[in-house]
Amino acid sequence: MLAGKRILLIIGGGIAAYKSLELIRLYQKAGASVVPVLTRAAEEFVTPLSVGALAGAKVHRDLFDLTAEAEMGHIELSRAADLVVVAPATADLMGKMAAGLANDLASTLLMATDKRVLIAPAMNVRMWEHPATKRNLAQLTQDGALVVGPDEGDMACGEFGFGRMSEPPAIVAATQAALGEGPLAGRHVLVTSGPTHEPIDPVRYIANRSSGAQGAAIGAALAQLGARVSFVTGPASAPPPQGVDVIAVETAAQMLAAVEAAMPADAAVFAAAVADWRVISESRSKVKKAPGAAPPPLELAENPDILARISQMEAGRPGLVVGFAAETDDVIAHATAKRARKGCDWILANDVSPETGIMGGVENAVTLISEKDAETWPRMSKTDVASRLAARIAAALQE
Ligand code: CTP
Repeated sequence: MLAGKRILLIIGGGIAAYKSLELIRLYQKAGASVVPVLTRAAEEFVTPLSVGALAGAKVHRDLFDLTAEAEMGHIELSRAADLVVVAPATADLMGKMAAGLANDLASTLLMATDKRVLIAPAMNVRMWEHPATKRNLAQLTQDGALVVGPDEGDMACGEFGFGRMSEPPAIVAATQAALGEGPLAGRHVLVTSGPTHEPIDPVRYIANRSSGAQGAAIGAALAQLGARVSFVTGPASAPPPQGVDVIAVETAAQMLAAVEAAMPADAAVFAAAVADWRVISESRSKVKKAPGAAPPPLELAENPDILARISQMEAGRPGLVVGFAAETDDVIAHATAKRARKGCDWILANDVSPETGIMGGVENAVTLISEKDAETWPRMSKTDVASRLAARIAAALQE
């Protein structure tokens, strides 16, 4: 809930601006009041009339609006809010913020405010991946800005990838977390994510196809609900989410050590695709081919099972331990047995046969298995699976 909170909402000029109308509605439903600010470009996408009517408040548009200055100067406007939210945060607005420009009302408010700023980036995938945007994002987070999204998916411009603005409910959840109001505020949740790399020699390793996308989405969703998230990640191709404490590891042994060091936790989600085996005698120098010789044998040893270790801790076990079960056949039966064997509370079973396109893909289809039942969720994006799981974890910790 956001009862009595005041949000200064800066709407940037991007196609995602239409979602800001829904965002205003959700803020009001949660009990917050919204003071909207439109950039010139935003007016090309949403009209001041619709924004003002939904917000039930004056829409601020111009730095040199004399009536507004007589009523409330821009400095005051920037400080009367509890939180400043920029949605959509376009590449241009992010650039202005990172550079400290103040040449219109939005950028001036962002420079003048003494409140926290939450940005919801939205732009074409190429623009999101551009080195300038990456530099600006790093600068903004270093300056203390909070970030929600962007999500991965189809974009209005016809391309596909990261750059879609987060959906309004996720922005509301991030707003609650920013104001210390989320259902997981004050909770510590540990998440493992990505593959592990098990070295053969200094240049070669054993790995698997995990992208880390599902783990990253879970880390983001938990942080959005206000949790402090320790995010222990192997070398994943998906970037780690904003707003979590990232602990980067390479091998299963390092992952176990990092998990143990991050304890205690109220809940733990083991989304990593940990390599089951490591090479016993890792070579310190590059293994060479000898003419005519047989390929070198690789002797393997089993890696520690991190999920089982934590699930079976005698003292200090997290209140809720969640695992994943990646299966290719008899998914539910194998996952049910796996949950009992490892001793975790819930297991999310997913079918990773190649024809599902789940491993390395954008969507996931899971069944949540607990001691008492198995609940199959419809196929949905990994972001939606993460939001749903985070909400379930929040509910379970409140019981
Ligand atoms: N897991 C772990 N440590 C390991 C292996 C797996 O923490 N050494 C966790 C994973 O993060 C996941 C769960 O255990 O939450 C199940 O992983 P999965 O690969 O499906 O199962 P395995 O234990 O590897 O069993 P199998 O390969 O026989 O299916």
